[in-house]
Amino acid sequence: MLKPPYTCYDQLYVYNFDRTDLGEINDPDLIGTWIEDETAILFFHKEKKILIEEIRKRSEAIIIYEANLNYQDWEAGLNITTFSIPPLVVAPLWEVAQLQLQEGEIGIHLDPSVIFGSGFHPTTRLCLQVISDMVTSNSTAVQSMVDLGTGTGLLSIGAAKLGVQTIRCYDNNPFACAVADKNVKLNNCEQQILVSEADLRANLPDTNVDLVVANLYKGLLLEFFENPDFWKAKYYIISGFTPSMEGELLAALPMDQLKLLERRKSETWRLWLLAKK
Ligand SMILES: C[S@@+](CC[C@H](N)C(=O)[O-])C[C@H]1O[C@@H](n2cnc3c(N)ncnc32)[C@H](O)[C@@H]1O
Repeated sequence: MLKPPYTCYDQLYVYNFDRTDLGEINDPDLIGTWIEDETAILFFHKEKKILIEEIRKRSEAIIIYEANLNYQDWEAGLNITTFSIPPLVVAPLWEVAQLQLQEGEIGIHLDPSVIFGSGFHPTTRLCLQVISDMVTSNSTAVQSMVDLGTGTGLLSIGAAKLGVQTIRCYDNNPFACAVADKNVKLNNCEQQILVSEADLRANLPDTNVDLVVANLYKGLLLEFFENPDFWKAKYYIISGFTPSMEGELLAALPMDQLKLLERRKSETWRLWLLAKK
């Protein structure tokens, strides 16, 4: 996450250790730590040879890999900048000072950090667009929402800014939860959004809400589709898959309970909007 004196991301220094118990790391240049598959991936603004050597000695951890890349490369070669999905205008923190909203526009201030959900992936945009379309066309259709795999929290914040009152969002990456929490606070959405760390594979949250948003990956979506407890909401936005995965996912849907309201696409990505019959 961005902490003073940093106001943007430039170079990323990435160190992946083979274990997670590395002790406390208080370094002003630390962006954050991902925990993935029982390993820890540390992101810094600066090269950290001495600190990394200290951590390695005290924890007896092994470095699996290290890398130095620029932020644009981390974000798939894209320059993360302000974009609009009307009426929402999403600005990364380094562009907030220049943000000039027109009448009717709603600003979102985002620290995208190194977490999925900067808004530049086609699936994030598709989801935000459908949330916006649903909520603006019928302001009472969605009053409660669950966001499965929230990343930066952008989809939840967008929904909250459009008026969705009660939102629960989940991620199994503690760093994603910290970033989502920060973004929720930056946008004054604490009253509407609760961020929780959870492994959705092990614990499916209560889906008894108006809208479930799941921008995930095929394996997890298939697990959800087979779980009757997943199908308690009124509407579902499902994304994170490509045309080659569509057949298998479609076959796993309990279509006796569902209507496929819309299929959208962007580049090689697909989204479905489903409703319970
Ligand atoms: C494709 S990203 C979507 C992020 C954001 N919702 C968006 O649309 O931009 C999927 C997110 O799901 C999280 N995730 C993956 N597997 C998960 C699991 N088993 N439990 C909880 N979250 C998970 C990842 O950490 C990641 O942040």
